[in-house]
Amino acid sequence: MTMNNISELAISYLRHYNCHINEGYIALLKEACEINPPPHGKAWYGNMYRQYARKSEWFANSLIVNAYEEGMGSRQVWQFSQQVENQQFAKLIRSHSIDESRHSKMFITLFNMLFPMKLEEELQTQLKAFSPNYNKENHPSTVPVSPNDVMDELLVMDELIQINLLEIRALILQLLLRPVLQAYARSEDKVKVTRMSDQFIFDETKHIEYSAYCIGEYMKWGDREWLRQTMIHRQATVNQMFLEDIDYQDCLGTTILRTQNAN
Ligand SMILES: [Fe+2]
Ligand SMILES: [Fe+2]
Repeated sequence: MTMNNISELAISYLRHYNCHINEGYIALLKEACEINPPPHGKAWYGNMYRQYARKSEWFANSLIVNAYEEGMGSRQVWQFSQQVENQQFAKLIRSHSIDESRHSKMFITLFNMLFPMKLEEELQTQLKAFSPNYNKENHPSTVPVSPNDVMDELLVMDELIQINLLEIRALILQLLLRPVLQAYARSEDKVKVTRMSDQFIFDETKHIEYSAYCIGEYMKWGDREWLRQTMIHRQATVNQMFLEDIDYQDCLGTTILRTQNAN
């Protein structure tokens, strides 16, 4: 896997899964990554990740941190969906939230599979509660609490741009995670672990796809130059967040950045 060019990498995964991608979006992403090259695409990050992941204690902990962060992310994404007026976008955002809820549970399953130990039942319950357990039937309200909670269209687009760039980051982490998961898995679990990794990679690619779709739709009626500037600016803030987060060892391998809400 070569990650010299993150936009190329994301685009090749989108193509691999036959995702429909807007050419205007591709141009914006390429430019944003050229102006502000993502540090998470650099070889040193992959090397650093693999170095840490060799320590089983660190790796076990990172699976738990990921389960926690994916669960939090799922709740935040659902709250965001409630503030989006465009119902086509809101529906896509809700299914994103449901995916992240499932990811949280998948990380706990992986933790239990790769590091089987007798955990106290109470602790096991706590780990499971990291996921909000959303699915098509079970989820919070789909309508905003009050009309005042509806977000301005530009703010919605700003959020979707950040989601898009962060999901590219999540895809990269899943690609780094894959061989590590396979290395830790006992031979009888390898097929199952690989299938879960396939699912993660597919889902993260779909998250890039839907947010790219929303960006492409906005281009039809919105301000293209604003989009361009915001993509460039948000790539810079995502890069900054990433560099801040890797100062905390346990954030080094998370699919969701901890400082995400600090802006
Ligand atoms: Fe995820
Ligand atoms: Fe995701």
